[in-house]
Amino acid sequence: MIVTDKISDIRNIIKEQKLSGKKIGLVPTMGYLHEGHLSLVRISKKHSDFVAVSIFVNPIQFGPNEDFDRYPRDLERDLKLLEKEGCDLVFAPSVEEMYPSELLTTVNVDKITDKLCGAFRPGHFKGVTTVVAKLFNIFTPDIAVFGQKDAQQVAVIKKMVEDLNFPVEIIKAPIVREVDGLAMSSRNVYLNSEERKAALILSKSLKEAEKLLLNGERNANTIIKKVNEVLNSEPLCKVQYVSCVHPDTLEDLTYIKDKALIAIACFIGTTRLIDNILWEEKYNAKVYDEI
Ligand code: PAF
Repeated sequence: MIVTDKISDIRNIIKEQKLSGKKIGLVPTMGYLHEGHLSLVRISKKHSDFVAVSIFVNPIQFGPNEDFDRYPRDLERDLKLLEKEGCDLVFAPSVEEMYPSELLTTVNVDKITDKLCGAFRPGHFKGVTTVVAKLFNIFTPDIAVFGQKDAQQVAVIKKMVEDLNFPVEIIKAPIVREVDGLAMSSRNVYLNSEERKAALILSKSLKEAEKLLLNGERNANTIIKKVNEVLNSEPLCKVQYVSCVHPDTLEDLTYIKDKALIAIACFIGTTRLIDNILWEEKYNAKVYDEI
């Protein structure tokens, strides 16, 4: 496994790999890897011949009162995990390598970034699309894998790729959960033991939504009401939003016809957690496989 913090190294290595006919897969991450990230690496391996992972806590996607400084970091541990997974290349740049001078050019996807998480994290998605566009230009990957856990992020990146003709296929990977149902997240490390128990309310509320859907409920407001009710039954949980939207356009749904994304964001203590389920009518079930 090659590890570098230099953009010029990445360009040379990728050029060589492409010349030898390899299909390049990229898994962009902010590090502090867990099983969810490793599942993205495995999926990337299935769809490409050379797997690259970037590890970069991107300052421009954090708001002034967010957790950039305290975001967990452990490069040594991450590298061990990636080596074990058979990753080929790791890019772990400094902030100076990624942003060597004042950044005057950004990439912004309009409209769909104003809702869900975007409504509460102004500028967040502009930071994400800008860094992802930079990573796509640095790696020129054939495929890139992102987790469904950040459902809005996937929709926004897909739209950016479509609008700006990036020659990369975006693969959406299913959410990986702890055995008790909590969606894996690097931020779970912030939870104390009481909060960790309370955080289970997120997946429990979505289970209730799934039950309603399986029983034929298609009224979005009924589902949203139920999810809110379950979340509010947990005293440590402060709901930020519960939404039922189309997974691609992120348009609010009143009635579920073919597909729906039920997405939630809550604070458990001071930790902001998100979770979601993706419903596809044709399967009459949650979607589990990468798409
Ligand atoms: O999902 C993440 O970890 C980040 O938002 C990403 C895509 C690596 C961009 O910094």
